[in-house]
Amino acid sequence: MFKTASHTTVEVEQLFDAQGAAAMVELCERFGRYGMYSQEHVDSPIGVGLAQRHDALSNFLRTGGRTGNTSGEDLRTLGARTNYFREEYAYGLEPRISGIEGFLRHDTFEDSARAIFPHRPVIEPAIAFANLMVPGQELAVHTDVPEFRGCNRKVMPQWLLVVMHHSGLFEDHRMPIATGVSWFHDCEGGEFTYWPDGADGPVRQHRVAYNTAVVLDADSVFHGVDRIASDLPEMAPLRPGMGLEPIGDGRWVVRDGDAVAAEHAWDELRFSVSWKAYCFTDEHEQRTWREGSDDLTLDVVVDRLVADLRERGEIDGEVPGDPTLALLMIDTYIRFPTTVAG
Ligand SMILES: [Fe+2]
Repeated sequence: MFKTASHTTVEVEQLFDAQGAAAMVELCERFGRYGMYSQEHVDSPIGVGLAQRHDALSNFLRTGGRTGNTSGEDLRTLGARTNYFREEYAYGLEPRISGIEGFLRHDTFEDSARAIFPHRPVIEPAIAFANLMVPGQELAVHTDVPEFRGCNRKVMPQWLLVVMHHSGLFEDHRMPIATGVSWFHDCEGGEFTYWPDGADGPVRQHRVAYNTAVVLDADSVFHGVDRIASDLPEMAPLRPGMGLEPIGDGRWVVRDGDAVAAEHAWDELRFSVSWKAYCFTDEHEQRTWREGSDDLTLDVVVDRLVADLRERGEIDGEVPGDPTLALLMIDTYIRFPTTVAG
């Protein structure tokens, strides 16, 4: 079974009143420095040596991105295009900066989550985080990293969690998560691109407009960010360890230690804030999730996937070693969108 079903998505035309939206922009600047998002590492006996998101990365390299215009670029440039800046504003219900509370518990997000998962009325916000992208950056098409009882990104490689969801074999253990993405810019390029009717369906694009949002099951719906307009002749040499910070008068700099690697006006950036929440059927399920009962283990997961691969005729005889088995799982279960035209 592949997940090609349609998914409910909610487009929000106005998330806050004028004051509330302005407060998010003020909060962004007040937060200060934004580090570059780099994937945490997890030691696992499967897929040793693969990138955490080998699935999305290899598809990006194979296709040259959604618009196909990265082909021919070297890996350093591709890294600079896709390593954006990210910081947490809240984790669980704990704010990491004052003023985020109204975002974390926003009725529009919670009502939209209930529309996406109609039988899951108990909404528990899990995280709010900021994403800042600079001209020339983009985000490869992907689905987000899902969670299952006993399996999350702290104990398993991210590509394996994505494989688990796309295989459809572990749905009894999955915890549905609603994702809201909101924008506080009117931005050239950088559209939020997604496939609500499945990978074989038409692509939809949300133009980045101030104070709008999209709420969706981002673990199931493929999505990405188109390249942000840039009039620079080439991509700034961004790499992990650099930070983006405001210097006043609406100007922002990318710092490499003390040196300035790039400077931008606020209007050239793309600022979004993401919200994720667990969606429970009832309080009993919410408690069970916390207590960690009925957890899946890595052995059970791999055995079930291998049995399914045998049934599909993908494995005949001995189970392949690493990384062949990991790559076979990614190629078999994760079917990326092929429709690219906007
Ligand atoms: Fe995502």
